[in-house]
Amino acid sequence: MQTKILGINDSSLSYAKSLILNEEIVAFPTETVYGLGASGLSDKAVDRIYEAKGRPKDNPLIAHVHKNYDITKLVEITQDYVKDLIKAFMPGPLTIVAKSKGVVSKRATCGLDSLAIRMPNHDGAQRFLECVDLPIVAPSANISKHTSGVTAEHVMTDFDGKIPLILDGGQCVGGIESTVLNVMEKTPIILRQGLVTREMIEKVVGSCAVTSGLIGAPMSPGMKYGHYKPNCKTKSYSVEQMDLALEDYEAEEKKGNKPYIMCDGFVAEKIGNKNLLNLGKTAEEMATNLYYKLREGEKIASVIIAIMPEGEGGVFDGVKNRMEKAFK
Ligand code: TXA
Ligand code: MG
Repeated sequence: MQTKILGINDSSLSYAKSLILNEEIVAFPTETVYGLGASGLSDKAVDRIYEAKGRPKDNPLIAHVHKNYDITKLVEITQDYVKDLIKAFMPGPLTIVAKSKGVVSKRATCGLDSLAIRMPNHDGAQRFLECVDLPIVAPSANISKHTSGVTAEHVMTDFDGKIPLILDGGQCVGGIESTVLNVMEKTPIILRQGLVTREMIEKVVGSCAVTSGLIGAPMSPGMKYGHYKPNCKTKSYSVEQMDLALEDYEAEEKKGNKPYIMCDGFVAEKIGNKNLLNLGKTAEEMATNLYYKLREGEKIASVIIAIMPEGEGGVFDGVKNRMEKAFK
């Protein structure tokens, strides 16, 4: 199969629609990462996603819809606060998990009673979703466990010859995946941290819990798997261990290897003239740069040595969560 990369316009969208109606896969940009989309109404299309990604069969998918889509066609909203969350954050990088009405294929929900729904805040994604006007189930557009793709080229690297079309909307600005939020309980529970932070949700709802998913069965099945890993050797150190990281860097160079240090902008200034993958200084910048730099690193480095950025709260929690998994 030949994989095409096309800019988003009327003609590529009508091609995308014909592929979706034919139960094929179309990769598309969002404000977080690229998605690997297929019709959520078709078992066959959903199966194709799991096969193309090599995704474990018990890890459910998010249904993406356009901003004027009536989500009560797909889920039952039982808690009053959900309308305030929708008003505040949708479209945006928030995915809500609510009771499914069973319209979306059971293959996508992995037999769970709930369904995850998201409205991306991205013009290209909105045009695509409006044009097909049905729920598009889409995981991040990467081979399972690999770093998520944030450009059309990244998606091509993983899926060349495996999918017919990648809609190209440039680099994703958000950079890490949406916040996944269980909205079936009295207090909403964050299942995956992201750009809509606990603090932001608390401002709207009053309270919000975060689960690590480590007690008993994971509440969000995806959390138990390895994720976001670049295709090269990795090591990690804390900021306190900076000297050790630098010794390690020198030792790698002496062996004839090509090490790169991934760190925040403050540490980068201290380190100076070395091979660097600089993530920037704010948590938002780090989110934007993280997957892009991991994908760059895997092409040019024999080993990426991370010095884990320090910080807590807000978007930083999502960045830390992704980095810990990428460097585990
Ligand atoms: O930003 C994003 O969310 C991107 C873009 C493409 O929209 N999508 C994405 O999908 O990150 P994926 O499949 O890589 O991650 C979906 C996460 C997984 O951790 C999965 O376990 C969780 O959402 N999830 C999906 N349905 C769920 C459900 N019914 N209950 C609990 N967790 C669910
Ligand atoms: Mg993913």
